[in-house]
Amino acid sequence: MRNYSDIDKLIIKVDEILNIFNIKSSGRPYPAKKIEDSELSKEDKKLVTNLMRVNHAGEVAAQGLYIGHALAAKSSSQRKMMLEMASEEKDHLLWCEKRINELGGRASVFDPVWLVGSIGLGILSSFTSDRNALGFLEETEIQVAEHLQSHLKRLPENDKKTKIVLEKMKADEEKHSNTAHQSGAQEIPKPIKKIMEYTANIMKEVSFRI
Ligand SMILES: [Fe+2]
Ligand SMILES: [Fe+2]
Repeated sequence: MRNYSDIDKLIIKVDEILNIFNIKSSGRPYPAKKIEDSELSKEDKKLVTNLMRVNHAGEVAAQGLYIGHALAAKSSSQRKMMLEMASEEKDHLLWCEKRINELGGRASVFDPVWLVGSIGLGILSSFTSDRNALGFLEETEIQVAEHLQSHLKRLPENDKKTKIVLEKMKADEEKHSNTAHQSGAQEIPKPIKKIMEYTANIMKEVSFRI
């Protein structure tokens, strides 16, 4: 029988919490499936592993946000939309997990914290109206797409696998922000956007390291 390390156990906890909400992957295949892994230097491998740990943590948070939005949605159409997007985010989560495994790394030990915090944030931002929730979501997706672009720039030239995964994720996040916009998102105030950026930066800094 496999012996689980403490970190494995924490990752399993996140999966267990997610299973309660029964968000299924949309079933799209891993974008880098047919791409051969290139020989990365030790430093490059470490860098990409750290970057992918950040992206994995971001996708854990995305699961939380969408779950929170779905729980607090005022209409059934809004709930349905949130759950559909959550299943695409589940693909991202699984792709990041796969890439981390391929690189021999591990997920952030703070994943349970990101998950629970984001569920709360999702509920809180849906509190007043569905349009406010969509505004929060649109801004989140814009910031995530920008963040993924910054990671694409930092990738080693020859890491084609990570590149294709992040490109696909970025295209999905842009689609999510457009969907939120077209569904009547109410623009959120600038100070809130700044707070969102600030809290996301804390999560990125922490999960890059541990
Ligand atoms: Fe995502
Ligand atoms: Fe997204």
